[in-house]
Amino acid sequence: MNIYKNISITKKTQVCYISLNNPKKLNALNSVTLKEISKACEEIALNKKIKIVVISSTSKNFSAGADITEIKKNKTLEDYWHENYGRKCINSILNLPQLSICMIEGYCLGGGAVIASACDFRIAEKNSLIGYPEIELGMNLSWFGLPLAISCLGLSEAKHVILSGEKFNALEMQNKGFLNETFDLDDKNKCLKKWISKFKKMPGLQLKMIKKSANELAFAQAKSIMHMEFDQFLLSRNN
Ligand code: COA
Repeated sequence: MNIYKNISITKKTQVCYISLNNPKKLNALNSVTLKEISKACEEIALNKKIKIVVISSTSKNFSAGADITEIKKNKTLEDYWHENYGRKCINSILNLPQLSICMIEGYCLGGGAVIASACDFRIAEKNSLIGYPEIELGMNLSWFGLPLAISCLGLSEAKHVILSGEKFNALEMQNKGFLNETFDLDDKNKCLKKWISKFKKMPGLQLKMIKKSANELAFAQAKSIMHMEFDQFLLSRNN
C-alpha cells in the first residue's frame, strides 16, 4: 500500500522507484511532497537490498518547481527557518548511499532541476524543458541548488542557465553537461533499463563508497558556505 499522498514508491529487485505523483499541479513541490521525498529517501538509505534509486514522475511533467502558491498563515520567519523542507529534501537525496538516477520528462524547473542535480545521473526525454525561473521571481537559488548546478554544468554554463532564467531543451542541456543522456519517448524504458543494468552488476559496497567520497570531495566547501542560502532567501523575502 502506498502510504504517501504526492509520491508513489515501487520496489523491484535492487531498484527503488520514487515517482512524483501530483500531476494536476505539475508536481509542484509543496511541503507535503518535500517531506514525503525526505521520508522515502531516509527509509531507502537503510535498505541494503537496494542498489539504485530512480526518481521520476507518474505523469508527463517531472516538476514545475517549488510550489509558489503555498502560503501558510500564522507562520513566523523562525518557523520557516526551522522547516526548510526543500534543503532537507535535497540533503536526503544527496545522502542516499545508493546510486540515484533522475528520469526527466516535460517541465523540470527550479526545485525540480535541483532534485535532478542532486541525483548521480540525469536522463531526459528529448522534448523536456529544463531551467531555473527563480531569478524572474526575484529569488536566490536555495536548496543547495547553486553548488549542485555548478557541479553539473561548470561555472560559466551554471551562470548562463541560472541568471537567464531561460528554459533549455534536453539536447541543449545535454550539450551543457547537465544531462547524461537524452531519449525519444518510445525509448524511455530501454534507456532507463540500460542505465540500471550498467550499475546493477557492479559491487554494491564499492559503488556506495566511491559515490560518497565523490560527493564529499565535490561539496565539502559548499556545505559550509551554503548554510546561509535559506537565511538570505527568508530575509530578502521579508523586505
Ligand atoms: N507552484 C504551484 N502550482 C503550480 C506551479 C508551481 N510552481 N506550476 C504549475 N502549477 C499549477 C498551476 O497553478 C495550475 O494549477 P490550476 O490548474 O489549479 O490552475 C497547474 O499547475 C497547471 O499549470 P499551468 O500553468 O496551467 O500549465 P501550463 O502548461 O500552462 O504552464 C508552466 C506550465 C510550467 C510553464 C507554468 O505552470 C509555470 O510557469 N509554472 C511556474 C514555474 C515556476 O516559477 N516554478 C517555481 C520556481 S521557484
